[in-house]
Amino acid sequence: MLRTHTCGELTINDTGLQVTLCGWVQRSRDLGGMTFVDLRDRFGITQLVFNMDTNAQLCEEARKLGREYVILIVGKVAERSNKNLKMATGEIEIIVDKIDVLNESKTPPFTIEDNTDGGEELRMKYRYLDLRRNSVRKNLELRHRMAFQTRNYMDSIRFIEVETPVLIKSTPEGARDYVVPSRVNPGEFYALPQSPQTFKQLLMVAGYDRYFQIVKCFRDEDLRADRQPEFTQIDCEMSFVTQEDIFNTFEGLIKHLFKTVKNVDIENLPRMTWADAMKNYGCDKPDTRFGMCFTEITSLVQGKDFKVFDDAELVVGINAEGCAEYTRKQLDELTEFVKKPQIGAGGLIYVRYAADGTLKSSVDKFYSPEELKKWAEAFNAKPGDLLLVLAGKAGKTRKALNELRLEMGSRLRLRNPETFSPLWVYDFPLLEWDEESQRFYAMHHPFTSPKPEDIALLDTNPGSVRANAYDMVINGVEVGGGSIRIHNKPLQHKMLQLLGFSEDDAQAQFGFLMNAFEFGAPPHGGIAFGFDRLCSLFGGSESIRDYIAFPKNNAARDVMIDSPSRISEEQLKELSLKVSI
Ligand code: AMO
Repeated sequence: MLRTHTCGELTINDTGLQVTLCGWVQRSRDLGGMTFVDLRDRFGITQLVFNMDTNAQLCEEARKLGREYVILIVGKVAERSNKNLKMATGEIEIIVDKIDVLNESKTPPFTIEDNTDGGEELRMKYRYLDLRRNSVRKNLELRHRMAFQTRNYMDSIRFIEVETPVLIKSTPEGARDYVVPSRVNPGEFYALPQSPQTFKQLLMVAGYDRYFQIVKCFRDEDLRADRQPEFTQIDCEMSFVTQEDIFNTFEGLIKHLFKTVKNVDIENLPRMTWADAMKNYGCDKPDTRFGMCFTEITSLVQGKDFKVFDDAELVVGINAEGCAEYTRKQLDELTEFVKKPQIGAGGLIYVRYAADGTLKSSVDKFYSPEELKKWAEAFNAKPGDLLLVLAGKAGKTRKALNELRLEMGSRLRLRNPETFSPLWVYDFPLLEWDEESQRFYAMHHPFTSPKPEDIALLDTNPGSVRANAYDMVINGVEVGGGSIRIHNKPLQHKMLQLLGFSEDDAQAQFGFLMNAFEFGAPPHGGIAFGFDRLCSLFGGSESIRDYIAFPKNNAARDVMIDSPSRISEEQLKELSLKVSI
């Protein structure tokens, strides 16, 4: 090793020791007689000191060091007169005898500090410099600990990690596949896996019993803060299990991660059916750090000549406790918020339940104080509260109220990133009807098993069939999803039929799986966690990008390596491809 120690480990106990350190120049301060340089590596920062009186030439050399120069120094550990107890090395400094400049550096395009002056685009272009910043490094260290503890836990309960292929087959269900041309099979393409779903099921057929993999998945879909085109799953599958066994096993994993990575104890996870989640929170991934559940008042408020309510399929609201004093301006802001196109409500009705017990609403023309009192009772409201009510088509109104509830949760600071509220949402519908294409889609995926008691409904009312499917939700984030699988050919076949596959297509696309089911497939089920999402949640951030070493931007581009990019005519020819744009 070139060095004897890292920049993060020397303490007062090392005083007098002769050391060699390597690292980057974080900053230097020239105080006339003395020059101080902060030397940084992944492990910390150590202060170097150069004294004009004792070694003028060395001091001159130190003054010439620019930011981010890579240097090696030899010197002696000394106690600092001016201690900084916030830093691990804050009680010592190195009196330097020798500097070697290992490499110079151009002035970086942004400061390598926690509060950098660099914008997102610039930092992404120079991601290797961004990665030098403490805050980013800490995120990747957290990610490492999460992966390490996942492997520890899964190994301890006898799961084995098996790698599955990255070059697989495109399926019609996979409209969002990334495809890769095959040079040796002209005109044919591989697809990159959206998940290792079918392979992990085949591993169950093979008798592997408990599989997991920390694995890259690829999806060519629209990006958001919590989505990347390539992301990582903790993908898991087990044989001979019920949904209950899956819940218990993976509650174990999540508790282990919280305990070992964050020292947080997690209680057993509450469970909520999908139907209850939709009814009470208007979404299938409720943020349960706070209450403010929905109250439906349709029958209570209709028939009073207020057209908006009379015409509505659903009138539903939330009680914002303690908000009766909201000003006109604040209420206008909330109205503007719900009317935004992406929220889509027509307007917002409110009732102020003043501290003195009087009730004032935006619809006083139609409702007497006695009637408003009944609303308040329905909402379990007390003096000081504010009722916020939306009306319209049921689905759209619930969706909009979900957004308003989250907005109120944020405004009232009820969404503390250091509070964790995990739960299971289960009994998802098996199928989802798509108006545009006039067909059913699998809500989770085509391999999910219907609830045994609902199988008969597949023939009569497929839309009402519930699945043995579940999500783990933490703080309003879907961190994982899975299901008990279909494991026999006739049912899998029927499912594919319902999804509109012809006989030939079903065989061509999924014949390998259905054939495997004929060779002693055990009952099985599993789950996959979004690893990047889990990391960002543990780190208290909404953006998964901060937890990925080299992420893509909002346009799915890597601006550092400038990808995707064109390829040469020659390459195209070799791959038997023609591009016309
Ligand atoms: P699903 O599609 O629900 O299930 O994905 C599992 C989890 O992966 C995460 N996730 C993503 N994270 C970042 N960027 C994305 N683009 C992205 N897409 C999904 C989410 C999600 O909960 N094979 C099934 C799992 C199973 O049935 O076992 C599957 O992939 O956190």
